[in-house]
Amino acid sequence: MKRLLITGGSGFIGSHTCVVLLKQGYELYVLDSHCNSHPKVIDRVVKITGDEESSTINKVFLIEGDLRDQNLLNKLFSDSIYQGKPIEGVIHFAGLKSVQESTANPLLYWDSNVNGSINLLRSMDQFDCRTIVFSSSATIYGASKKSFLPETSPINPLNPYGQTKLAVEKLLRDVFKSSPNKWRISNLRYFNPIGAHSSGEIGEDPLGIPNNLFPFITQVAAGRREKLTIFGKDWPTLDGTCIRDYIHVMDLAEGHLLALECLLAEEPQLMNLNLGTGLGTSVLELVNTFQSVNNLEMPYEFASRRKGDVPQIIADNSMALSRLHWNPSRNLEDMCRDGWKWQTLNPKGYL
Ligand code: NAD
Ligand code: WQD
Repeated sequence: MKRLLITGGSGFIGSHTCVVLLKQGYELYVLDSHCNSHPKVIDRVVKITGDEESSTINKVFLIEGDLRDQNLLNKLFSDSIYQGKPIEGVIHFAGLKSVQESTANPLLYWDSNVNGSINLLRSMDQFDCRTIVFSSSATIYGASKKSFLPETSPINPLNPYGQTKLAVEKLLRDVFKSSPNKWRISNLRYFNPIGAHSSGEIGEDPLGIPNNLFPFITQVAAGRREKLTIFGKDWPTLDGTCIRDYIHVMDLAEGHLLALECLLAEEPQLMNLNLGTGLGTSVLELVNTFQSVNNLEMPYEFASRRKGDVPQIIADNSMALSRLHWNPSRNLEDMCRDGWKWQTLNPKGYL
């Protein structure tokens, strides 16, 4: 079976994608510095995917290291060739993702996200591996009058994190243009991934106080935080709170498998694809669904709008649906149920 390199495979989205890829029979090299994750994640991935007859324990190799270590990357690619099993594709999740932290420390973000990606592409080129799926983000889109954002929407990231995602997309475009008959590239622009694997074995495990809404909700419900603060109740939406396109992390993970297989099957190309459900949910709707599905109540209060927020972001996902034959089928209830199961089974995350 094909061998893949998964950078950032111990992280939230990467670990769920490893489950999908292992179930499909791929062999994985996971490279992760664990600056924002725990190595235990991979044991859980093996637990979910292994069964008594066909254990996946010999199909996933965890390498702790940083993308900015060019020698390490070269060694991974060259060792694979030496073993007669070259790395045939890369799914590139590794990167830092906090908008707030990127504003405070842009050098760290440009170094990790952009220099790390340059190193990766350099090694890939050197060792003739030219298929890559990149974790981009809907955060690169600027203000738009359209209700649903297609891939052709105006691009204008508002913070250093978003700038680094756009910079890597531009880098990938230049690399593709330099040898269009060799590279296979997919930029997947995620909307708001939430939820967890239905087993409750893996999920989102943010360090410190969560920046994002969903892990904050689960931690308040679990009593780890006192209450949720909802930023703004005067937005121009039906209930006054912001609308986002929340997508179950397992649907997102399946999108990666399909994007990779599409690249491997087709002619060299570069594609930009939105991975979202195409459905909008307000903050209050998410809170209410979480409470009713899980039969609990949680304290929340309203505060003023958060700087940098926009009232509505929803994907036009028609391109991903048709190009990949992707079917994001899990609904908001599934996201809330699975995310809560992960939280209750792992009150302190992977610790
Ligand atoms: P995550 O932090 O859980 O996973 C990222 C992983 O990369 C972590 O395990 C971290 O330890 C590792 N890592 C970071 N820098 C590294 C480096 N220089 N070398 C090696 N490993 C490194 O984040 P996630 O939510 O799983 O996101 C995965 C990717 O998707 C990121 O690139 C992120 O920017 C992007 N993305 C995430 C979201 C989201 O809301 N979660 C939305 C859009 C895009
Ligand atoms: C969702 C809504 C908040 C926390 C971010 C990144 C984006 C992408 C996905 C990586 C907003 C409200 C939040 C809270 C709240 N990540 N909220 N109370 O801002 O849509 O996107 O994650 O690429 O780049 O910016 O997600 O989960 O932070 O916020 O009321 O404590 O929840 O105001 O309306 P966002 P989010």
